Formats: sequence, C-alpha cells, structure tokens
Amino acid sequence: MGKNIVLIGFMGTGKSSVGVRLAQKLKRQFVDMDREIELVNGMSIAEIFKRYGEVRFRSEESLMAIKVGKQQDVVIATGGGAVLKNENIDSLRENGILICLDASPEDIFSRVNRKKGTRPLLNKNVSVQDIEKLLQEREASYACADIRVNTSNKDLDTIINEIMQSINDKKLMLN
Ligand code: S3P
Repeated sequence: MGKNIVLIGFMGTGKSSVGVRLAQKLKRQFVDMDREIELVNGMSIAEIFKRYGEVRFRSEESLMAIKVGKQQDVVIATGGGAVLKNENIDSLRENGILICLDASPEDIFSRVNRKKGTRPLLNKNVSVQDIEKLLQEREASYACADIRVNTSNKDLDTIINEIMQSINDKKLMLN
C-alpha cells in the first residue's frame, strides 16, 4: 500500500481542485478534510464556526487529521489551517507526503472573493494586505512541506505535472 499525498496551504491556493484532478490522474480516492468534517457534524464549516467557535472547529480538524492520516493511497486536501498544530502535521505525515500549494496574495484575494461567505476567517471586507499578513504569520507552518508548488497563473495540468516532477526529483516514493 502506498503513501498518501496531502495537499496543504493557504485558503484559495487550489487544494481541492488540484486534489480532485491529481486523484483522477493517479486513480486514487480523493478525501477533502473539510467536507468530511461537514459530513460528521451535519453542518457547514461556516455553521460550525458560527455556532460553536473556532476552538471547536480546530478540535474536529485534529480528529479528522488522525482519521485521514491512517488511510493509505489517497489524495487528501486539508483546510488552510490544518497544519497550524504540530500534532496535526504528525498525523498527516504518518503515512503521507506533504505538498504545500502557494499563490500570490493578489491571486488568493480574487479566488476567495469569488466564494464570499464560505470562509469564516476572512470577513467580507478582507484586503490583500490582510491576506499578506496572515500568510506571513502562517509561513512557518507551511514550511513543514516536503514540496512546495506555486499555483499562481498556472493551469491544473501544469500544476499536477510540477507536483509529479518534484515527487520524482526528490525521490519521495509513493508506493
Ligand atoms: C481555514 C481554511 C478553510 C477551512 C476553515 C479554516 C483556515 O479551508 O478549513 O475555514 O484556517 O485557513 P480552505 O483552505 O479550504 O478554505
């Protein structure tokens, strides 16, 4: 059985779209941590934040990291804050290669603005500067990745080829 490919990175960097396509290409199952958390709780991420707050969401996220970290051969898209806790990094790395997707603050800004209201940490008046600041605060967490790929101004196939190339170059065995 093979290693999981775990996509980490800031909101709006393309983790879910890249994950779906990568899973198709590798003929693997795709698991989206946030969607799984929504299923288990029977409500959207926004609703969990609103009703119970971020602390509760983060503990659901840690439980889910343990659960998905035990799987094999799957492509996992994490939420943007999933690697803020070291224990989650350990869970996800247990059987996984961590790939961080990066994007410019301007790109993130335009992507998150297309899906307004779905991301409780970014209010509707969020600016490029706010995103830059949060990116800087989180950089140390994203730096845990085995591979980093910038997704700005690239189509999905280019991003996927870069990921596969880096996995080969770094000799990170998938099987
Ligand atoms: C979060 C990112 C979101 C979601 C939650 C918190 C974060 O996922 O998990 O709103 O802390 O960055 P996406 O990265 O898929 O937007």
